[in-house]
Parts: sequence; structure tokens; C-alpha cells
Amino acid sequence: MAEIQLRNIGKRWGSFVGVDNFDLTIADKEFLVLLGPSGCGKTTTMRMIAGLEDATEGDILVDGQRVNDMEPKDRDVAMVFQSYALYPNLNVYENIRFPLRVRGVDPSTHDEKVRRASAMVELDDFLHRKPAELSGGQRQRVALARAIVRQPNVFLMDEPLSNLDAKLRVSTRAQIKNLSHELAVTTIYVTHDQIEAMTLADRVVIMKRGVVQQVGTPVDIYDRPANAFVASFIGNPAMNLVEGEISGGTFRAKHVEISGLNVPDGTITLGFRAEDANVAESGGQINAPIYTMELLGDATMVSVRIGGALVSVKADKNYRAEIDETVSISVAPEQCHLFDATTGARVGS
Ligand SMILES: Nc1ncnc2c1ncn2[C@@H]1O[C@H](COP(=O)(O)OP(=O)(O)O)[C@@H](O)[C@H]1O
Ligand SMILES: [Mg+2]
Repeated sequence: MAEIQLRNIGKRWGSFVGVDNFDLTIADKEFLVLLGPSGCGKTTTMRMIAGLEDATEGDILVDGQRVNDMEPKDRDVAMVFQSYALYPNLNVYENIRFPLRVRGVDPSTHDEKVRRASAMVELDDFLHRKPAELSGGQRQRVALARAIVRQPNVFLMDEPLSNLDAKLRVSTRAQIKNLSHELAVTTIYVTHDQIEAMTLADRVVIMKRGVVQQVGTPVDIYDRPANAFVASFIGNPAMNLVEGEISGGTFRAKHVEISGLNVPDGTITLGFRAEDANVAESGGQINAPIYTMELLGDATMVSVRIGGALVSVKADKNYRAEIDETVSISVAPEQCHLFDATTGARVGS
């Protein structure tokens, strides 16, 4: 059992703020993903939880007990990093066994524990190999097995898939998801990859420059991004964002006129997702020359340019047109997200 409470934790180096006012309770057995661009404070947050970095503000509690002053080795956490950090001279078996030896776990239990952990990550046939004789994916699985082997209360994983090629990332991601279901241990997982975050998380925390932007389930965050930054970070492609003026419930920008919006007059950033719009015969709310078209296999992505921004819509896979030909795009007002043009905060719908 491990519920983690982060009470307004922060990290400063001199005047530089790495993490600011991070306040969140992570439920027992929750899979929480910290997501954000490089440098936004994800690793620092995780290192504070592990005890590898002192929090300069706030309290960290595990099951109600304050752990700020507890040594990393006394916090019952296991970390998996982007670099596997395996011992090159030890074979897979001994690498996985290592944490048990260090922690003085009863040696008569080692073999069973190592075999169970290695079976979970499908390494049973590689126990005699040295790390140099393994692929990147296999090495990362050794690192996972080494984290699993001593059954910690908390898993911390920092971009564990970044060194793997695209195909292996997908299969290892699936394995981590399955493993986390099986282990049911509180997990905090760091990534800059929104697809990883959306596929793995019970809840996602999106950070920007040390500040939490939104906390929610993947569905919450996808359906109701709290601000334009989150909207631009989640989804593939990212949400279309267009700047324009609202007057009497109608949004206008060059090539765009969308009525039926329920917000006060003023400058607005309007967003909608490629999959929430359609190519129309004519009479759509956006009429603009085609900038580019991309065949995706199951659909054709049609893009136009509006005020310098690329706006994409998913059309039928058989859709054909020429670049510079005018395309009409229909967007229902209820599919539009509206953000304050200055602060980026969500307004209205
Ligand atoms: N020891 C340090 N001293 C000063 N600044 C640091 C230190 N470690 C990290 N930072 C800064 O803190 C910010 C957050 O870093 P980090 O948590 O590693 O980001 P992320 O993991 O999201 O990429 C970055 O701007 C980074 O340069
Ligand atoms: Mg990092």
C-alpha cells in the first residue's frame, strides 16, 4: 500500500525555479504519468519523491508519513531510468538479483524471486547472457525486472522507452501496461511523449516550466484541455488553434467564420481537433486554399494555413484534390474549444 501526497513541493536552485508548488495526492496503485516538454521539471519531481533531490519547499508523505528527511534507500521505491545502468560484468540473472543482495534479502528466496521477475518480462531464456549480448529492448527489460524483483511499494520510471526504436517502444509500452496491471503498485512514469502518457496513465499531469497545467484522466485532458498549451500538446495531430475575433457569438479570422459560440466579444484562440471537422462540398465554416495533403492509410489529412497556423482536418481516405484548390471545412460550434488569447486559459464551452 502506498499513497503519495505531494504537498506544495518545490525545487529552487538559487533564483531558478525547477518545480513550483506541485500539489497532488497519488492514490495507492495509481499509474500517474508526468508529461511535458524537455526541461519542464518532470525528472526533478520524480527525484524529489525518490529522495535523490531535496525538496526546497513542501512536504512529501507516503501513507501519511513525512519522508522528506528519509534516505533514498529507506524509501521503498524502485527506479527505472532511460539509461539501463546494468552491470556489464554480471549476467542477466545476477543483474536482476543485485537489489536483493544489496538489501540483504534472505538468499534462500533469491532464485524464486529472480525467476518470477524475469518470467514477467520474458527474459527466462537470457539469464546467462551479459548485457553486451542483449538488444536495447532486452536490456530495458532487465532494468524492469531488476525494479520488480524486490516488490517495492512505488515504481518510478523516467523515460524508460526513449532509447528504444519506434516498434520496440510500442511493444515494450504494452508490456509495461500489462505488467503494471499485474503488479498493482503505485507508479509514477515520466515521459515527453503524449501517446505514451495517454495509453499508460490512470491520470496525466501536464507540466510546463515547472508548473502543473492540468491533472486528469487521458479522456478528461483530451476532451477538455484546461488551456491552449495543453490543447497544443495532446492529440496527434495537435489541436488546431486559430486566433480571431468573437463578435455576437460569431468567430471570425481570415477564411473562417463560425457562428453559434457562446462567449463574450473579444480576441480569442479557437481550437478544434482534426477528427472533429469534415471536408464539406461547400458552405463550411472554413474556406481556404489547400496547403498540403497527406495520405495516412485510413484517412487523408488535408491542411490549410490560417494566419500562419496550419489547420488540419481528416478527410476520407479516397479524398483527392489539388494543392491551392479551395477546400470547404465544416466545424460544429460544439466541437470548438475557446481559449483566452492572452493567458491561454479555457473560456466558455
Ligand atoms: N542541478 C541542477 N541545477 C540547476 N538547474 C537544474 C538542475 N537540475 C535540473 N535543472 C533545471 O531544472 C529544470 C527542470 O529539469 P528536469 O526536471 O530535468 O526536466 P525534465 O525532466 O522535465 O526534462 C531544467 O530547466 C533544468 O535545466
Ligand atoms: Mg527528464
